[in-house]
Amino acid sequence: MVISVRKEQEKDYRRVEEITRAAFSYPERIERGGIGCPYEHWMVHALRERDGILELSLVAELEGMIVGHIICSKAEVRTSDDVVPVLNFGPLSVLPAYQGKGVGKALIKNMICKAAELGFGAILFFGRPEYYPQFGFKEASVWGITDSDGYNYPSFMGMELVPGYLSRARGGKYYESDIYDDGLNRDRVKEFDRSQEKTI
Ligand SMILES: CC(C)(COP(=O)(O)OP(=O)(O)OC[C@H]1O[C@@H](n2cnc3c(N)ncnc32)[C@H](O)[C@@H]1OP(=O)(O)O)[C@@H](O)C(=O)NCCC(=O)NCCS
Repeated sequence: MVISVRKEQEKDYRRVEEITRAAFSYPERIERGGIGCPYEHWMVHALRERDGILELSLVAELEGMIVGHIICSKAEVRTSDDVVPVLNFGPLSVLPAYQGKGVGKALIKNMICKAAELGFGAILFFGRPEYYPQFGFKEASVWGITDSDGYNYPSFMGMELVPGYLSRARGGKYYESDIYDDGLNRDRVKEFDRSQEKTI
């Protein structure tokens, strides 16, 4: 089974949003997500327009069909006297029927390589603590960085792409795009879903 990863193109947008919606439609997520419906596909749409890094919006293909997607965005760590730019990623989505076949792994490994090639110094993000350490991600507390409220927990992780890059971020707080919060607005997501139905 050959998984190939490439940059997302405009013609892929609709398929990618459907994959994202399907990946995040499992009951536990809908219940915990808090708005009663999947909203991560709206985030992908919004990130393409603001704060997303299109060079690092990647699709994974199996037998010529897109089955997974990852998108990165701009984020920063603010210390008392510095602002340190970092890379954030998410949502990461694999179509349910294709999960557990190495698609997520291929997307993450490619993203890390491309991010390093593009010169990003570090990645910081929120994600599943049981999944990401296999790629070398560690808890952000290792670098003395907290979330914007001053907390640390296992799902707040990171990786240096340039050794020592995060030393100037020590004591800082992490801020990601506000699109990740905006996605929790049910009306906005529903309006987006309706606009998509009209274009079918
Ligand atoms: C989480 C997700 C991206 C993983 O992608 P995937 O293609 O299913 O995972 P992979 O096949 O690449 O898994 C790679 C390895 O991680 C393991 N793994 C997969 N999902 C895991 C999980 N949730 N927890 C722990 N390990 C996991 C696999 O068993 C595999 O191990 P192996 O290399 O020893 O065989 C995918 O299941 C998904 O889209 N889930 C729903 C959306 C989601 O939760 N996104 C991430 C939000 S942080």
